[in-house]
Formats: sequence, C-alpha cells, structure tokens
Amino acid sequence: MATGPIVELHRNSGDWDEIVAEIVKLERKIFPKHESLATFFDQELRKKNSGLLYLDINGEVVGYVLYSWPSSLYASIAKLAVKEQWRRQGHGEILLKAAIEKCRTRKVSRILLHVDPMRTPALTLYRKQGFQVDTLIEGYYSSDRSAYRMYLDLDAN
Ligand SMILES: CC(C)(COP(=O)(O)OP(=O)(O)OC[C@H]1O[C@@H](n2cnc3c(N)ncnc32)[C@H](O)[C@@H]1OP(=O)(O)O)[C@@H](O)C(=O)NCCC(=O)NCCS
Repeated sequence: MATGPIVELHRNSGDWDEIVAEIVKLERKIFPKHESLATFFDQELRKKNSGLLYLDINGEVVGYVLYSWPSSLYASIAKLAVKEQWRRQGHGEILLKAAIEKCRTRKVSRILLHVDPMRTPALTLYRKQGFQVDTLIEGYYSSDRSAYRMYLDLDAN
C-alpha cells in the first residue's frame, strides 16, 4: 500500500534542481543507456506540454512518471519507474493512475506509450490499467531491442 504523497514538479519549484538531479540518478541506474532519458531529462521537462509526478516518502524520491500532451489529440507516458527496493508495493500503479488522470484533464482521447516487451512488470501493469498493444516496433530502442506501442482510449466523459 502506497503511503507517500504524489507531488507534481512545477517549473518554479524551489527544489527543481535537487529533484531533477535525483531522478536523473535513478534514470541512469534503472535504464540502459539507449533507453535512458537521463541526458535530456531537464530539457524534456522544460517543454511546455510536459509534466512530472513523483512519489515522496519521507523526503525520498521513490518513483516518478514523466508524461506529455504534444497536442489536444493525444498524450504520452514517456517514463515510469520505481526504485528497486520500493517495488511491488503499489507505488508504480498509483503513479500511473495519477498520470492518466492528469492526461484526462487535458481532454485528450488517447494515451500512448512504448514499452520493451521484455519488461514484464511494466507490461503487466499497463495491461492492468487497460492499455492495449497496438503494434510491435522493431529496433525501436536499439538494433536488437523492440518496443510495443500501447494505447489507452479515454472515454469522452
Ligand atoms: C514497472 C514498475 C514501475 C512497477 O512498479 P511497482 O511499484 O513495482 O508496481 P506495483 O507494485 O504498483 O504493481 C502494480 C501491478 O503491476 C504488475 N506488476 C508489478 N510488478 C510485477 C512483476 N514483477 N511481475 C508481474 N507483474 C508485475 C502487476 O499487475 C501489479 O498488480 P498486482 O500487485 O495486483 O499484481 C517497476 O517494476 C519498475 O520501475 N521497473 C523498471 C522500469 C520500467 O520497466 N519502467 C517501464 C518502462 S518506461
């Protein structure tokens, strides 16, 4: 059961640098280079239509989700991760649900994401939240790493 609050990082947050540095550190630890956003995380986040939610438990950044809504047509989940020692306690699901709700407020009708088919925990979580596999994109991450493109259609209400 997740206990910490979900925090939205704002452009004018006093702790922007500290939080981004912490997340970049996690990003490097969790993802291989070809899948990592570490080198341009700050840049991605400063884009107008992007948002970051993180889970803070007693001052520790335990997980994060990066999402964007490039147009009114769709939103996308760019990254979701939970620190290894904090996994399987519902945190990933809570972060994903919160990002879906944020996307819903943007009035988009579809959320898209890419996930490596080998990432069983993530794939299972996305499916649990209603995402469906659209297609397999071969060589998406690197010459030998493909991605499923997944989508979740939001109802019009
Ligand atoms: C994917 C990830 C964020 C899940 O975070 P988590 O906090 O451990 O997930 P939760 O505890 O909220 O689990 C929610 C659901 O996800 C699925 N799930 C999570 N871990 C799983 C595992 N090891 N095996 C199978 N399903 C799993 C289950 O459906 C689970 O629901 P359940 O508890 O009712 O079975 C985490 O494993 C992670 O950071 N992985 C590495 C980074 C990654 O692959 N990110 C996604 C690509 S961008």
